Amino acid sequence: MSFVETIIETCSQLPPFPAVINRALNLMNDPNSSVQEIVETIQYDQAITANVLRVCNSAYFGLRQSVGSLQEAVIFLGFSQLIEILLSGVSGSMMGKAVSGYDLEAGELWKHSVSSALLSQIISRRIKREQNPMLFTAALIHDIGKVLLNAYVKEQSETIKDLVKTKGVSFLQAEKDVLGIDHAELSAHIIEQWNFPQKIIQAIRYHHTPLLATSDQEAVYQIYLSDLIAILTGIGGGVDGLSYSGFEQVMHHYKLNEKDIERFMAQLGDQIQKVEAMIQVQ
Ligand SMILES: [Fe+2]
Ligand SMILES: [Fe+2]
Repeated sequence: MSFVETIIETCSQLPPFPAVINRALNLMNDPNSSVQEIVETIQYDQAITANVLRVCNSAYFGLRQSVGSLQEAVIFLGFSQLIEILLSGVSGSMMGKAVSGYDLEAGELWKHSVSSALLSQIISRRIKREQNPMLFTAALIHDIGKVLLNAYVKEQSETIKDLVKTKGVSFLQAEKDVLGIDHAELSAHIIEQWNFPQKIIQAIRYHHTPLLATSDQEAVYQIYLSDLIAILTGIGGGVDGLSYSGFEQVMHHYKLNEKDIERFMAQLGDQIQKVEAMIQVQ
């Protein structure tokens, strides 16, 4: 078995995406579902309940009186913020550790992921596209392949960095040249194992190379911008911070300019307390 086959095989041994969260996501996508049904779905999971209450009572929301029940919290937060918290809980346990092959200290990849996810909402508001919870999910897990590839990137770190320096290729390309697969491709394989929709898989596969996508370009471009702006804000770029092409074309596609980028960065800054509250969720 080749290295690439072995590493893809490892994806199938990853724990499945939590069933409780999948059920809750489905309910939240169903316009006929009630708060009560959602509460009933998640209330038996202590970790989730604790996380929802912790974020709800965090400084970001500035509540005078703390919220003590899941039902109150769900009503207060609304479905879209609830989705954010549920998904952050899942990704946090997978992406909270240091990913030193990519020069990311403990917590950095996760902060980058949550920031990208919040940016996907900020951007979709500006470009007047519907706020799709699927995009939030895609932005949150776009770099998950780094976690699996980390040890190998670390092992080959000198060769990869040397290639970037001498040949002027992107870190992503160097990963692929040296290991036979890059983290974007591996992230897509992981998401495929979890049976996520094709749109999310595409957005993740092409998050560094948006112009190569032949379908679902809207999702691809939005995840690309979310990731890039998180990096421009200085959040979790690590070693592959500059592996980006297609910026001008994507900006042109949405008729965005530099001022918009500055605004996105400022809006993320306004939500940074929320980022902090969500990354405490484990
Ligand atoms: Fe990436
Ligand atoms: Fe990223």
